[in-house]
Amino acid sequence: MKKEEWLRKGYVDEPVEKGTDLKNEIRRLCKEKNAVILGHFYQADEIQEIADFVGDSLALAQWAAKTDASIIVMCGVHFMGETAKILCPEKKVLIPDLNAGCSLADSCPADKFAEFVKEHPDHTVISYVNTSAAVKAVTDIVVTSTNAKQIVDSLPADEKIIFGPDRNLGNYINFVTGRDMLLWNGACHVHEKFSVEKIIELKRQYPDAAVLVHPECKNAVAKLADKVASTAGLLKYAMASDKKDFIVATESGILFEMRRKCPDKNFIPAPPEDSTCACNECNFMRLNTLEKLYNTLKYEWPEVQVDENIAKDAIKPIRRMLEISEKLGL
Ligand code: 13P
Ligand code: SF4
Repeated sequence: MKKEEWLRKGYVDEPVEKGTDLKNEIRRLCKEKNAVILGHFYQADEIQEIADFVGDSLALAQWAAKTDASIIVMCGVHFMGETAKILCPEKKVLIPDLNAGCSLADSCPADKFAEFVKEHPDHTVISYVNTSAAVKAVTDIVVTSTNAKQIVDSLPADEKIIFGPDRNLGNYINFVTGRDMLLWNGACHVHEKFSVEKIIELKRQYPDAAVLVHPECKNAVAKLADKVASTAGLLKYAMASDKKDFIVATESGILFEMRRKCPDKNFIPAPPEDSTCACNECNFMRLNTLEKLYNTLKYEWPEVQVDENIAKDAIKPIRRMLEISEKLGL
């Protein structure tokens, strides 16, 4: 009966006993079960604090590929769990809340994307990692925002390319590589919401601030940037910069690691256009909580599953990405 309720909800809905020291218990369970917690930079602060490793999408895949833990708990969104499961089919991959999806991945239904690919048979298919396993299965090379430019650059100049699903990242990569890739018309609901006007207003308040922008943002926002890069790239830039103030146009979870790495610098989240909130959060990423993380470890549920036939095809473009990234030293 309880399991039915969990299935309906997509997470273990069990009250945690009063007085439980969640962080201690999570660490104890990890040790007892040989589990590792991988967390994305967009996770809530307390999850980033307790994770064994925190990183961007590329680093999470690289970690999953090399860990010798028996259980991987992916504190991120579903496609990240799928990538880990495809790379480590023999391991148990858990995610604290199965509802942690991704609007960008959802903007690219696998059947429609497969039709698009079929209509352009002479094209190499590059997919952003923010896609379902079924989309990866009809892809030639997976990329993340850390390696997209270098991977596209590594292909012959006259190679015809389909790039999906993010139109903003695709436009940006077309611009920096001088290519004319055919783009899928998808987007992320968080990154599309940043407002040019509000960033200009912040720039008035902090005239010396560097503007840091994720390439999933609209072109008009990217044009205001001192640096356009993945979460890890923006963090690296902030660490190396002489600047004191930074206006950050990506999901505000990254500010936790920026402040941890650069305690003397000032990080200002860029606000979304349609709200009075100062921060722009991904509602999917924020579904994971410390309580759900504890329960997922305790009950070893929910597990991320990938259809074997899909996984067999999806692993090829993921491996290709990891191999090229290794060669490029990324
Ligand atoms: P990166 O952390 O790879 O930059 O990706 C951002 C993102 O949108 C993850 O959902
Ligand atoms: Fe997906 Fe956007 Fe959330 Fe990243 S921030 S997980 S791209 S919805």
